Amino acid sequence: MNNLDIHIVGLGNLGSSLLKGLKNLDKDLRFNLYEKDNKIREAITAEYGVSVNNELGSIEKGVLVLCIKPKDLNEFLKSNSDKISGDVLICTVLAGVDTQYFSKFIKNRIIRLMPNLSIKNNTGFIPYTKTYKEDYLSFLEILSGLGQISEYEEDLFHIITAIYGSGPAWYLELSSKISEAAEELGLSKQDSNNIVSELVKSLPSLITGEEFAETVEKIKSPKGTTEAGLNSLTKDSFDKIIFNAINSATERSVEISKEINDE
Ligand SMILES: NC(=O)c1ccc[n+]([C@@H]2O[C@H](COP(=O)([O-])OP(=O)(O)OC[C@H]3O[C@@H](n4cnc5c(N)ncnc54)[C@H](OP(=O)(O)O)[C@@H]3O)[C@@H](O)[C@H]2O)c1
Repeated sequence: MNNLDIHIVGLGNLGSSLLKGLKNLDKDLRFNLYEKDNKIREAITAEYGVSVNNELGSIEKGVLVLCIKPKDLNEFLKSNSDKISGDVLICTVLAGVDTQYFSKFIKNRIIRLMPNLSIKNNTGFIPYTKTYKEDYLSFLEILSGLGQISEYEEDLFHIITAIYGSGPAWYLELSSKISEAAEELGLSKQDSNNIVSELVKSLPSLITGEEFAETVEKIKSPKGTTEAGLNSLTKDSFDKIIFNAINSATERSVEISKEINDE
């Protein structure tokens, strides 16, 4: 769609990544940007040469993308829902906030996404769910420029949020711990950080579509170093540690949803 207005509210980690990914697209999009934090406003203006407002004006058409934290949503909707025309598509990325929550304030079509920060390089994967049937404003086509899109039932979003939205943190935390262990065992901080960075960069070539456990089998050899480390992980209940982390994140998404609905 040509000349689509994209309004982005909140240009923190996710909002600025989304803006970057959308700017990379060869599409005729008109951006209207809103951010409370003065430093972020200045940084976005310096990077893209566009002005950023701190208050929403009236929004007649296009897509309004909400990239604010769940704690700020109630106040945002209370103050702004009467400024948003019914034709505007609402796009939300807020973890734990279901589409039904918005119906207390507005009757607009809603699309809910759970991307991660990789959308800034247009290499993301975007799970979504929506309250309407046919594509509207060709927005799915635009999203597919940010990465592979896939529709899911909304009740799966708690677990999707835990594994995909928060997912980069699991891998980066693991990398941080591998790096710390290597340092403790004799490498310099810089060497261990460099080597673990190269290790992480090498992983995409190992994602082949087969089950991850099968790939692990191919890396390990009997009585070798990998097997010794894997045995130690098993002995220390690695599976339980990971299950508990993903389960905690999933439960937190359910809790946020309850908290916000009880507000
Ligand atoms: N970060 C991720 O990897 C990720 C992944 C998936 C989904 N999400 C979702 O994305 C949302 C944003 O996360 P984030 O990490 O980007 O948060 P963030 O870095 O804190 O960015 C949110 C920004 O929105 C601003 N803001 C709050 N209310 C506003 C309003 N009414 N108008 C304009 N700006 C406003 C905040 O300013 P102040 O700080 O001054 O209030 C803040 O700078 C969350 O709901 C999260 O669940 C994030």
